Amino acid sequence: MRGLEQIPWLYDGFMRVAELLGLRRWRERLLDGVHGRILEVGCGTGRNLPLYLSPAQVVAIEPDPAAARRARWRAPEVPLVIARAEALPFDDGRFDVVVSGLVFCSVQDPPRALGEVRRVLDTGGELRMLEHVRHTRPTLARLQDRVQPAWTCIAGGCHPNRDTEAAVEAAGFAIDPHDRVARGVMRRFTARPSVVRKNLPSDPKA
Ligand SMILES: C[S@@+](CC[C@H](N)C(=O)[O-])C[C@H]1O[C@@H](n2cnc3c(N)ncnc32)[C@H](O)[C@@H]1O
Repeated sequence: MRGLEQIPWLYDGFMRVAELLGLRRWRERLLDGVHGRILEVGCGTGRNLPLYLSPAQVVAIEPDPAAARRARWRAPEVPLVIARAEALPFDDGRFDVVVSGLVFCSVQDPPRALGEVRRVLDTGGELRMLEHVRHTRPTLARLQDRVQPAWTCIAGGCHPNRDTEAAVEAAGFAIDPHDRVARGVMRRFTARPSVVRKNLPSDPKA
């Protein structure tokens, strides 16, 4: 499905305006103090990549070749692999931090992708997320449900009505209440694998 997310010049124009209106601050907070071996999933045109203090520690994945080309131009020092979050081409425990910015509204299979994120995180690792989510007010959530098919088509895969925090918890993560910001439909939070591992969709026995 080709939409806004697959047209890099249009996506970047849209993002430039959104960042001027406040999204840039959300992005900076998402990456605040991040260190260690970092994987950014769905980096798109790479708008986060220049914001890392040590880009040398970052590896990125992105499934869309056109967006990936622009990300490589924006941050040539960051190794970028064409891949999907549902099948991460990395060993278990390879990363200390996985970063996801506005991605889980678009992934086709969030439970599988979150299972993969958990697999590649090392013990004590963390998932940092910036997402727009399903509205907590039922009337507005129903409105999101109604506009979702057209929205998904225009945006190129984005679902405005996903409860991504619930999906993260169902995948065996605990969201840190001290590092969580919720404003309208915007969420930024850090989540860590819970001690008790639940059956995940990518588990052979699940
Ligand atoms: C709204 S854009 C966000 C791009 C970038 N992270 C940013 O903050 O600007 C969503 C991105 O998720 C990518 N995406 C969609 N499905 C994906 C999947 N299954 N795995 C990884 N990335 C995916 C899209 O190609 C797109 O680049």
